[in-house]
Amino acid sequence: MRKRLTITNLKKMKQDNNPISMLTAYDYPSAVLAEEAGLDVILVGDSLGNVVLGYDTTIPVTLEDMIYHTRAVARGAKNTFIVTDMPFMTYGIGRESTLRNAARLMQEGGAQALKLEGGTEIASEVEALVKAGIPVMGHIGLTPQSVHQLGGYRVQGKLDKEAQKLMDDAKALEAAGAFAIVLELVTEPLAEAISKELSIPTIGIGAGRGCDGQVLVYHDILQYSSPYIDKKMVKTYADIGTTIRNAISSYVNEVKGGVFPAEEHSFGAKPAAINHLYGGAGETSDQSSGNQATREESQKRDFVSNHS
Ligand code: KIV
Repeated sequence: MRKRLTITNLKKMKQDNNPISMLTAYDYPSAVLAEEAGLDVILVGDSLGNVVLGYDTTIPVTLEDMIYHTRAVARGAKNTFIVTDMPFMTYGIGRESTLRNAARLMQEGGAQALKLEGGTEIASEVEALVKAGIPVMGHIGLTPQSVHQLGGYRVQGKLDKEAQKLMDDAKALEAAGAFAIVLELVTEPLAEAISKELSIPTIGIGAGRGCDGQVLVYHDILQYSSPYIDKKMVKTYADIGTTIRNAISSYVNEVKGGVFPAEEHSFGAKPAAINHLYGGAGETSDQSSGNQATREESQKRDFVSNHS
């Protein structure tokens, strides 16, 4: 069993050119499977809102949602480094509230680190969290909690001004003590430039090949949704959605066709137990437990007389 990585290990992985693998997970079975597969970092992302809870954005996800799901993931992946998202408006609202919400995610959820969206504007809160002993992962580029302000899910950093702002954000987060930064939907050349500039690892999603690690969403790589939406930045590794749909459809057909349950899925009983229901001679459960008690008594008597 592999030991859980630490932020020191993750920083060393960047120095050693050893790419970091991160994937989201939201519940016990996904966490168990991710750990068994040898993943470096699990992210309990607030993409939970989209892929598990059925919202259109991550904005409705609450602190309670994140605590509940992080706890389930922590039970399933005891040897994997777990990062949890601070959801919309639980940070960036003043140090004291941010620290209180962060404490709940760490203590009640059981994560090893927190991820916050934003750059220079949240750097002072990142610093406060780090000073309080909480490892922080930054997240810049396309930040889904600000989707309405960004005007939709579009690639970031194409314009000079945007690219400069993202570079400044990344440096501000590093200076504030973040141990890693997610770069989401950022042009490949900009992500590569930021990764070279920083001493902490960058973890890309839709940010090309120059990052120090990659992160994707569990349901995306497994096509675990319906309808499945193809995204350019995602590579799918299995089609679980089709497998599950076909399996459920077979179950429905077998129940309706009287094929399931078959004899091997059923439990038998002595005919007497059923005869008794219709007034025939049979052994009741009272008699049967009485018989059992009598058998035990006589065994005890035999044991005592054999050993005295
Ligand atoms: O919530 C999430 O899944 C994320 C990843 C897309 C990085 O933040």
